[in-house]
Amino acid sequence: MKRVLFVNGCIRGKAVSRSYQLAQAFLAPMEEAGFVVEEVDLGAMCPQYLHYGNFAAREEKIAAGQLDDAMFDLARQFVSADVILFAAPFWEYSFPAVVKAYIEQVSVCGLAFHYTPQGVEGLCRAKALVFCTTRGGFASGQDAELEQGGRYLKAMCHMYGIDQMTMVAAEGLDIEGAPVETRMEKAKAEAKETAKALCRNG
Ligand SMILES: Cc1cc2nc3c(=O)[nH]c(=O)nc-3n(C[C@H](O)[C@H](O)[C@H](O)COP(=O)(O)O)c2cc1C
Repeated sequence: MKRVLFVNGCIRGKAVSRSYQLAQAFLAPMEEAGFVVEEVDLGAMCPQYLHYGNFAAREEKIAAGQLDDAMFDLARQFVSADVILFAAPFWEYSFPAVVKAYIEQVSVCGLAFHYTPQGVEGLCRAKALVFCTTRGGFASGQDAELEQGGRYLKAMCHMYGIDQMTMVAAEGLDIEGAPVETRMEKAKAEAKETAKALCRNG
């Protein structure tokens, strides 16, 4: 039974979030193909970012090799997924801070990656990570360098050992008079195709 881990950073909620709609367009074909969806709802969970009060305890557990501790539940779940989907709105040119807090929680040395004499080596099972996002303005084409969310996740894939990273984005949605529905439908079709291609290629 293959598992797709849905990291839901759509913190405005499923009733209104357009990024959540894109995520659902991706997940439907995955479920049809027999994938089981496991959702991590970051809005509800509010994972802790690392700070002075929790960092030392975590480092001690890692140094002692106690990686089966409950503190690393999220990390073990992340590491063992077959496909990973992040969905989040484009905020401040990247994504909401809660997504970064989650990334801190799962990026555990010895679980998600480790260091070898040659450098960092990823330990994640997933071969593909997909990022579904929607933007009020534009951050592609000549504005592509403004985009820091997908670019950051792609860099993290290097650390995790995940070979394939695909970003699906609908943008220009908050521009007055924008053809929002058309742009969303196009992005949803892209999300579906991305899922189908992943299912075809195993
Ligand atoms: C706090 C906040 C920050 C935002 N920052 C940006 C931004 O930097 N660039 C942009 O194009 N749109 C920005 N937007 C607009 C959202 O990206 C856009 O409305 C998006 O479709 C919301 O996705 P959602 O419906 O999944 O929540 C921001 C919106 C909010 C509420």
